[in-house]
Amino acid sequence: MTHHFEGRSVVVSGACGGLGQALAQAFGERGARLVLLDRDAAELDALATRLDPGARTAVYDQADPASIAQAMSSVGTIDVFINNAAYMIRKPLLDMEDGEVRHLIDVNLTGAILMAMAAARAMRDRGGVIVNLASQLAFTSEHERAVYSAAKAGLVQFTKNAAREWIRHGIRVCAIAPGVVRTNMTDNLSDEVRRRLMSRVPTGEMIGPDAIARLVALIASDEASSFVGQTLIADNGYLLQ
Ligand SMILES: NC(=O)c1ccc[n+]([C@@H]2O[C@H](COP(=O)([O-])OP(=O)(O)OC[C@H]3O[C@@H](n4cnc5c(N)ncnc54)[C@H](O)[C@@H]3O)[C@@H](O)[C@H]2O)c1
Repeated sequence: MTHHFEGRSVVVSGACGGLGQALAQAFGERGARLVLLDRDAAELDALATRLDPGARTAVYDQADPASIAQAMSSVGTIDVFINNAAYMIRKPLLDMEDGEVRHLIDVNLTGAILMAMAAARAMRDRGGVIVNLASQLAFTSEHERAVYSAAKAGLVQFTKNAAREWIRHGIRVCAIAPGVVRTNMTDNLSDEVRRRLMSRVPTGEMIGPDAIARLVALIASDEASSFVGQTLIADNGYLLQ
């Protein structure tokens, strides 16, 4: 194992989710000082106890700008920020209530942008890396995912523009767009939706969260210093058609 992150402070949002836990584990194994953020204090404590009792934790709500500001100002030095927290509502678009649309955008786009901005302010004097978690749905369409997809497409475009603006501060911004990953987000898919989705995946398999975590660790490392503003699509071939 290459210890690319020895002594570096790596902040992971949405750390208690399927990808978040894999990310925390991958960066921990690579020597990072972990800072784990999520909504639920008890789950965060349990995760820290399991992975790294020395990890710092902060509870926040990504729908709430004040909560974001408080959590991000409490974490201290940030060398790498993994902007991972998000959620999904699957519903026919015409059945979605205004409040559901707003909340989804508040958390998945506005909140993610505010998190990246807070991280960049903390990094301004010494540089760092921000990796945004987008989705293959930023680049294609699927039933009942319109608002989620719009938020993720917004995050891809934010990544390009923030990268251009912040590189002068030594802050490298990039993103990853996973395909269908085995996590809570995909656990409750109906058989019909799962069959339809998987029929479009050339490998025929869902992606393991640890496979995405390894790629995130790579693009966040100094080895990937030329990877600026772009989004790496890691989808087991879903978008090839
Ligand atoms: N699972 C997939 O197939 C897939 C595919 C593409 C992209 N992604 C993206 O990967 C990232 C991680 O997804 P996952 O599959 O691990 O999902 P998950 O549901 O397992 O985990 C998401 C985490 O985000 C946290 N979170 C949600 N809303 C929050 C809020 N308001 N404030 C603070 N924390 C909040 C949750 O508590 C949870 O721990 C997300 O950005 C997701 O959009 C997932």
